Amino acid sequence: MERPAAPAAARHPADIRLTITSPEQMRELGRRLAELLRAGDLVMLSGELGAGKTTLTRGLGEGLGVRGAVTSPTFVIARVHPSLGDGPPLVHVDAYRLAGGLDEMEDLDLDVSLPDSVIVVEWGEGKVEELTEERLQVVIHRAVGDTTDEVRHVTLTGLGERWSEADLETLAG
Ligand SMILES: Nc1ncnc2c1ncn2[C@@H]1O[C@H](COP(=O)(O)OP(=O)(O)OP(=O)(O)O)[C@@H](O)[C@H]1O
Ligand SMILES: [Mg+2]
Repeated sequence: MERPAAPAAARHPADIRLTITSPEQMRELGRRLAELLRAGDLVMLSGELGAGKTTLTRGLGEGLGVRGAVTSPTFVIARVHPSLGDGPPLVHVDAYRLAGGLDEMEDLDLDVSLPDSVIVVEWGEGKVEELTEERLQVVIHRAVGDTTDEVRHVTLTGLGERWSEADLETLAG
């Protein structure tokens, strides 16, 4: 008997899991991920302090070819890195110090910039989900048990239509 095709809505892209063994490799992952990104994309980065979220974003900035080095902002919560070419700008948000939660988040007007930008948010859990249901979630875990280790486990999950077709598998190769 022929099996009915699964309805499109039921298709959920599998997580991509990667093992990263150095800061340089994390940057390289960012550079490769940048090739998959376009204006309107939201990337949500999760992981404990020092996991490597900013390091990954630095590679993203390099891959997108934007102006200015991506750094951990001390006071600035969102920084716009304009493209040096004709690509989208990178908006790098570090919501760690956003004590005010949603209200302060709304002040950033990310909904206004999203259609024309790639937005990457660190510490955005509970704050950016309502911006769009289509987002790429990246979770970085330190290898358990050894805090001096440079090993990181990275899981990428694409949510929504946008990411159902994106070829995240290319990052694993
Ligand atoms: N495999 C790795 N990938 C990324 N960073 C690594 C790795 N191994 C060691 N590191 C080091 O861990 C630190 C990661 O710092 P980074 O600022 O990227 O983290 P973060 O997740 O943005 O932290 P925060 O939550 O404070 O913003 C850097 O000092 C980096 O050199
Ligand atoms: Mg950071």
